[in-house]
Amino acid sequence: MSTASAAPQPVVTCVGLTKTYRLALGHELTALSGLNLEVMPREIFGIVGPNGSGKTTTLKLLLGLIFPTAGYCTVLGHHPRSPQGKESIGFMPEGPFFYQHLNGQEVIEFFGQLCGMPKALLRERTETLLSLVGMSARRRVVMSQCSKGMVQRIGLAAAMVNDPSLIMMDEPTSGLDPIGTREIKDLILELREQGKTVLLCSHLLEQVQEICDRVAILHRGELLRVGRVEDILAPVDDTEVVVGGASAEFLAQCKEMGIRIDTAKRDPTLVVPPSVPLFDLIQAIQKDGARLVAVNRFRETLETVFLRSVAAVGQTDSVRGEHD
Ligand SMILES: Nc1ncnc2c1ncn2[C@@H]1O[C@H](COP(=O)(O)OP(=O)(O)O)[C@@H](O)[C@H]1O
Ligand SMILES: [Mg+2]
Repeated sequence: MSTASAAPQPVVTCVGLTKTYRLALGHELTALSGLNLEVMPREIFGIVGPNGSGKTTTLKLLLGLIFPTAGYCTVLGHHPRSPQGKESIGFMPEGPFFYQHLNGQEVIEFFGQLCGMPKALLRERTETLLSLVGMSARRRVVMSQCSKGMVQRIGLAAAMVNDPSLIMMDEPTSGLDPIGTREIKDLILELREQGKTVLLCSHLLEQVQEICDRVAILHRGELLRVGRVEDILAPVDDTEVVVGGASAEFLAQCKEMGIRIDTAKRDPTLVVPPSVPLFDLIQAIQKDGARLVAVNRFRETLETVFLRSVAAVGQTDSVRGEHD
């Protein structure tokens, strides 16, 4: 009997993963609450959410730096503290810091030596990594002279020195200018091309949504949503109509027609489903004496999904108690 090819095993598994920190005076803070998650091979998986939502705590648990209060996680099929798993993991912390007098090449070699890599292999690997992160020509620039983007690239190279199959990154684009951000994002995409699995954390939802295959949205330690970015974002066949000076009656009418109204911006924005004929709507705007400011194809962002999801859970998420 022929055996069907085995289903791919998750690279990272979190089951009911919970972390409660003990604070002073007997207080406690649950930074992560019952997280269930699977990261599959060769995907770029983003854990996103605002500051304090439990992203770094999740990474620390996966790296075996802290212990869960409840639940468990596995990384590459191993317990996070197992040495076997560690061999194939790369980690880039938030804002990596290196000895300021070392240059980029020396930093990579230093990390390779820590991994016990033989000299010849390390030399070859360093060349490959310098080229991968676009630092070959700038290998002799010492860390104290490097821009934040250059430090980040060297940080990524250092995290990759042992040729890991899973790379975890904490806030990889934080503090970078638009060009630096673009370059790091391209590098992350390149890692996936090379068959790596990337698990990244970011509070910059809009920045990472374009490169992540799947995201988990965290809020105060709770998982709000998880899924493919295109499934989480609303369909793009809605149209965004921005109106100025619309009457309350007109907006109420719009709602009745199934139009969502975003009042967060300066002018109300109507999110119009394809079922509403645009021509009729524009005529109605004119009749109301309102101004048509702009008509765009509606593009939802993870940020708006996040805000809607938080609004949907409403008061129920505050039962966990206050942070900070
Ligand atoms: N070692 C710690 N002791 C006490 N509280 C902590 C500790 N580390 C993190 N926290 C708290 O846990 C919550 C989640 O933190 P963190 O995981 O760093 O969030 P994020 O990375 O999403 O910004 C925050 O409220 C933070 O203040
Ligand atoms: Mg963090």
